[in-house]
Amino acid sequence: AILPNTEAYRPQYHFTPPEKWMNDPNGLVYHQGIYHLFYQYYPDDIVWGPMHWGHATSKDLLHWEHKPIALFPDKNGYIFSGSAVIDTENTSGFGTKENPPLVAIFTYHDIDGEKAGKTDFQTQGIAYSLDNGETFTVYEGNPVIGNYGIKDFRDPKVFWNEKASNWTMLLVAGDHLQIWQSDTLISWKKVSEFGKNQGAHGGVWECPDLFPLKVAGEAKEKWVLLISINPGAPNGGSGTQYFIGDFDGTTFTSTQEEDRWLDWGTDNYAGVTYNNTPDGKRIFIGWMSNWSYARDTPTEKWRSAMTIPRELSLEKINEQYELINYPITGLKKVLKSSNSFKANPIYSVAGLNISQSEIVFTTASRDFELSFTNQKEDRLKLLFDGANKQVVLDRATSGKTDFQEDFAKENQLMPIKNLPEGAVEVRILMDWSSIEVFINKGQYVMTSQIFPNEHYTNLNFHQKGEEPVEVKKLEIREIES
Ligand code: FRU
Repeated sequence: AILPNTEAYRPQYHFTPPEKWMNDPNGLVYHQGIYHLFYQYYPDDIVWGPMHWGHATSKDLLHWEHKPIALFPDKNGYIFSGSAVIDTENTSGFGTKENPPLVAIFTYHDIDGEKAGKTDFQTQGIAYSLDNGETFTVYEGNPVIGNYGIKDFRDPKVFWNEKASNWTMLLVAGDHLQIWQSDTLISWKKVSEFGKNQGAHGGVWECPDLFPLKVAGEAKEKWVLLISINPGAPNGGSGTQYFIGDFDGTTFTSTQEEDRWLDWGTDNYAGVTYNNTPDGKRIFIGWMSNWSYARDTPTEKWRSAMTIPRELSLEKINEQYELINYPITGLKKVLKSSNSFKANPIYSVAGLNISQSEIVFTTASRDFELSFTNQKEDRLKLLFDGANKQVVLDRATSGKTDFQEDFAKENQLMPIKNLPEGAVEVRILMDWSSIEVFINKGQYVMTSQIFPNEHYTNLNFHQKGEEPVEVKKLEIREIES
């Protein structure tokens, strides 16, 4: 296994902290052969507390090395979510051009200010590293952006803006996005806003990200804005919406009218993308949990995992732009060669470690149920409901569910209204306490935590409509051990 398989529910090929509480991915940046993953971390308990930045590094985004804690709470407050850049030209003056600083940009949360009922307790700070993230120096002039009375003012995502030749920061301010700019990473100026009257507003806006993507098969490029919101997700609690639009270097605009969601499952939140990837790919990682029950899930030593890293792309399907998210191609390295089931139709498979595997099949059927079972009578159900053009995930009988009332309450619904006709690929990743479903190569995605009483070993297709289920090319790859 790529991680020792010792504790109940510990994923094998998804990132988890060695112990204690984790939430959002932070500071995603690639530098000198290394992908950094910093994360919201509380080293003293398995519930949220004074936030630090935990740290791990990887060469392939799948095998991670745990590193010492990178950032600790200081006199300005807890260290909330943020990003990291490589200051190649040494605009900040923290390093040299020969050894450019890795600069972390984050939110300070002043807990005393919050407790005193103030509204200005979130500010933005920076810290830098001259040894590729091994150690950090906190900037003595922090905060670099103060607060002028906005209660929720956080989660800076900074990137090098080629159109304006400056550093550009995205910040959320309660119900909207603010864009700030700087030549030095130290002194910042606000230049625009977006979103007060657009998108979903069932909760506070958090963890913004903005980047260009080429539209597949076209010369055109569009900009994609990610905004996490909590609560207000389509299946309750936390979720990530996106906007497709244009960015002129200063202002983001979008004509999008309906709300769009990157993932329809309950458990993909606060996800953002890497800066500086070597191959120009846009790689996303999300926190595989939901604030509705994140503190209550039945693990003991650590809490929560990250999604599988996913590559984002943009496609026009039936005249509509769609944001696609699909596992990185390197994933095949951690999977064993496949068990192929070529007979058609295939109704059931038994005796494999389905709970830690990848399952891929192609089907033109739109009415069937796929169920996962084990010897403990747990059952997880994925229903393709053609009449209502939706896919439904039902985890109510999938082992432990009663640790929090919202967890098993409702089926998770994913509309598949814009799915092309004919055969589509269904790809499922399972890693003991999670299931990630990718339909049509990442057009429709559903990520969900599950806590079965033992590993699922069986998989069954059941006919639901008039037509028999037709499953082609079923392949199951257990993970490499
Ligand atoms: C998102 C979030 C961020 C904040 C962090 C605190 O999950 O609420 O907005 O910076 O978590 O841990």
